[in-house]
Amino acid sequence: MSISAAKPRILVARALFPEVLDFLSQHFDVESNQADAAWSAEQLIDKLQGKVGVLSTGGERISAALLAACPQLRICANMAVGFNNFDLDAMTAAGVQGTNAPDVLTETTADFGFALLMATARRVTESEHYLRAGHWTRWSYDMFCGSDIHSATLGIIGMGRIGQAIARRGALGFGMQVIYHNRSRLDAATEAACGARYVDKTTLLQTADHVLLVVPYSTASHHTIGAAELAQMKPTATLINIARGGIVDDAALAVALRERRIAAAGLDVFEGEPKVHPDLLTVSNVVLTPHIASATLRTRRAMAQLAADNLVDFLVHGKVRTPINTPQPVARST
Ligand code: DGY
Repeated sequence: MSISAAKPRILVARALFPEVLDFLSQHFDVESNQADAAWSAEQLIDKLQGKVGVLSTGGERISAALLAACPQLRICANMAVGFNNFDLDAMTAAGVQGTNAPDVLTETTADFGFALLMATARRVTESEHYLRAGHWTRWSYDMFCGSDIHSATLGIIGMGRIGQAIARRGALGFGMQVIYHNRSRLDAATEAACGARYVDKTTLLQTADHVLLVVPYSTASHHTIGAAELAQMKPTATLINIARGGIVDDAALAVALRERRIAAAGLDVFEGEPKVHPDLLTVSNVVLTPHIASATLRTRRAMAQLAADNLVDFLVHGKVRTPINTPQPVARST
């Protein structure tokens, strides 16, 4: 009778689709967290002892200290396109592979960017709260007048896959003039395909009726929009952040909204989320959603499956599907 080798041990850090856990269990000895307990950094380190892989969701911080304390860890597979929860340099130096979940969420997230833009510019949630509170007694000519989306100028900061998908919606679906700013300019064919024109950041802020942020978070993009940038925007403009908390200085934004220096904002991400700056909760001209831009069942399943596929590809087949680093060849503990 042959004795089969023990399966590699992995950790799934948050509650996940049962069918994805079943898939992982075909290949691994899986410790899951279906109770969705909120683990401290120390508890995460504890749970990772003896694990060669982790499926994380973007909320789990993979730090240099964690890597040092988990010498058997070889891969961190994020179920998110963003990976600012990873200390990628430390992972690379420690010989740990990182992967993310790009592409599968692009169109869904672009849809949501547009939904948030429309809700914000047309004051959808603000007017619904008014109605639910019983304040609506009769129609009036200027009640909840917002600003148009069609034919307006859309300024996109961050022109990766999601930015481009939003640009296409704006240019082709709504007849908008689309301008963008990005670290590097797109080639002419891509610009033409998404109907977007490159401008510098100041021109974008001064010209756009709607400014939409889809730039990845890094120390360089921290507070891409602060008090100085808000002051450059039109008083009629809206600001939409579906990128990451920390891209916008939320305290400065709350002041600008309260003083009507810009018309409105729509925020899906926040500095220090799930906490929300208290001043944002008390201004009416902001639409607030709890980091749900990629949240359709189909897309969240695809993101989870891609993270699971990354674990199987790497740990079982020795390949990488959507790598975000090239780890140094460092011997990890077995
Ligand atoms: C992502 O994929 O980065 C989204 O923000 C979901 O976390």
